[in-house]
Amino acid sequence: MNHVKRAPWIAPSILSADFARLGAEVDAVLAAGADLVHFDVMDNHYVPNLTIGPLVCEALRKHGVTAPIDVHLMVTPVDRLVADFAKAGASWISFHPEATEHVDRTIALIHEHGCKAGLVFNPATPLNWLDHTLGQLDFVLLMSVNPGFGGQQFIPATLAKLRAVRQRITASGRDVRLEIDGGVKVANIGEIAAAGADTFVAGSAIFGASDYRATIEAMRAAIAAAAD
Ligand code: DX5
Ligand code: ZN
Repeated sequence: MNHVKRAPWIAPSILSADFARLGAEVDAVLAAGADLVHFDVMDNHYVPNLTIGPLVCEALRKHGVTAPIDVHLMVTPVDRLVADFAKAGASWISFHPEATEHVDRTIALIHEHGCKAGLVFNPATPLNWLDHTLGQLDFVLLMSVNPGFGGQQFIPATLAKLRAVRQRITASGRDVRLEIDGGVKVANIGEIAAAGADTFVAGSAIFGASDYRATIEAMRAAIAAAAD
C-alpha cells in the first residue's frame, strides 16, 4: 500500500487506571514506553457513564506530565469544553460529530485553542462525515466498541472500516493519524495495525496487566510483526 508509514503510538486509556493513584499510574505507563495519555471524558448524557473533566487534566500537568494528553470528548454539547480542556493542558481533542451542532466550527475551535483536532466514529457512524472534514483534521479516531465503558470486546467489522479510512487518508495526501479505541489487546493489535491504524488506545489491556512495560513491548512487537 502506498502510504507513509508513521511510527506506531501507544495511548493507554486512564479509564482503567487506579484513580486513587492517577499521577503515579500515568508516570508508570509513560516510563513503560507509552507515547500519549488517552483521557476519556464522559458526561452521563452523550454516553451512559460519568468520568473526569478539565480539573483532572490540569492536575496531571501540575503533577509534571509532559507527554501529549489525548482528550476524547464523549459529551454534548462539545464547544464549551474545548476551551476548558485547552486551558487545562490538553494536546489532542477529539469529539463525536453527532454530539455537536456545527462540526466544522468545532474543529476550527480546537485549532484556535492550539490543539490537534480529531473526529470520532462510533461503530455505526458512517464515514461520510469525513467528506468535508478530512482536510481539516489531524487525526481520525475509530471506535471499535460502543463508547461508555472500558473492557469491552473489539468489534471485528471495525477492521474493514479502518482499511476504508486508511484509503481516504492516503488519497488525501495529508498527515493524519488513524487511532483505534476499544478492545485493543496484544492478541489483536497486529491485525488492527495491518488494517491501517497507527495510534492504539488500550485501557484494560495495559492497566489490567501486572507489567505495563512488558505489555507495551508485546504490543509493539505484534505491530512490527504484522508490518513484515
Ligand atoms: C470507551 C473509551 C475507551 C476505553 C477503552 O468509551 O473511549 O478509551 O477506555 O478501554 P479498553 O481498552 O479496555 O477497551
Ligand atoms: Zn477513548
